[in-house]
Amino acid sequence: MNSIRAFAPATVANVCCGFDILGFAVDFPGDEVKITLRSDSDIVIVSITGDGGRLPKESDKNTASVAVLSFLKSIGSSQGVDIELKKNLPLGSGMGSSAASGVAALVAINHLMGNPFTREQLVPHAMEAERIACGSAHADNVAPSLLGGFVLVREYSPLDVIKIDAPDKIYCTLVHPHLELKTEDSRKVLRQTLHLKDVITQSGNIAGLMIGLTKPDYGLISRSLKDVIAEPTRSAFIPGFSNLRNVAMQAGALGCGISGSGPTIFALSETHERATAAGEAIQLEFLKHHLKSDVFVSKVNQQGAYIIE
Ligand code: HSE
Repeated sequence: MNSIRAFAPATVANVCCGFDILGFAVDFPGDEVKITLRSDSDIVIVSITGDGGRLPKESDKNTASVAVLSFLKSIGSSQGVDIELKKNLPLGSGMGSSAASGVAALVAINHLMGNPFTREQLVPHAMEAERIACGSAHADNVAPSLLGGFVLVREYSPLDVIKIDAPDKIYCTLVHPHLELKTEDSRKVLRQTLHLKDVITQSGNIAGLMIGLTKPDYGLISRSLKDVIAEPTRSAFIPGFSNLRNVAMQAGALGCGISGSGPTIFALSETHERATAAGEAIQLEFLKHHLKSDVFVSKVNQQGAYIIE
């Protein structure tokens, strides 16, 4: 076999209280990457579709090729590849777009090379792609896209990623307003020092969310979906943000917040019906601010990226 396609799902990083340390994957949408082995050692991006011609094709700048380069270097291989990238995720959306491309490429090359690495071992290579994309090698998008489910990054050095047994019935709503926000810019507005009371609040909520997910205790999940670290400054980028949580909760969601670095809003719900109602309510609220949006409702994905053929 010298050619394979892989799919990697969108992800919600932070999940309100887990800034840079928690994320989960959804079933769809996601990006697709096809990798074909070459007879020389070149790494070539032969095509990118769905990005409006905006993503770089240089192999040291694109997240898919950077992830592949990191992988091949680590196994001491000079194998060359052709990469075809099909972007389904909008750029600068907060849905883990850059992560999905890197992860799909990694799962494909790992498969073609005989699976030398476990999914966990692929995480550092996907983080290199994140570093190229936004200047920060965070793992809270790439780890859930690789592993599926909710994933906690307990520690970065040494890396310790833990997949959490989440409730089977938990649905995610993603509402993507037609706005673009670069993660790099969204990280610039973060406060670099925190009040002790905020650290205490955030710690209580992340611990509560972990316990709520594993029990499961939906009331505890709901009470824990709060963010006092990133949301206070980042919400200024999102028109109408102050009312979004209210309308989502009135529609029956457990909680709601900024997906990753935004501007996409996510909500978690116990049923598909409530997740759909939350999506409609958030979409309506955005319309009041003259913002169109796309809504995706999906179960929390449990398997992560996969080989298509
Ligand atoms: N944890 C990262 C952030 C995710 O919030 O900046 C970026 O998608």
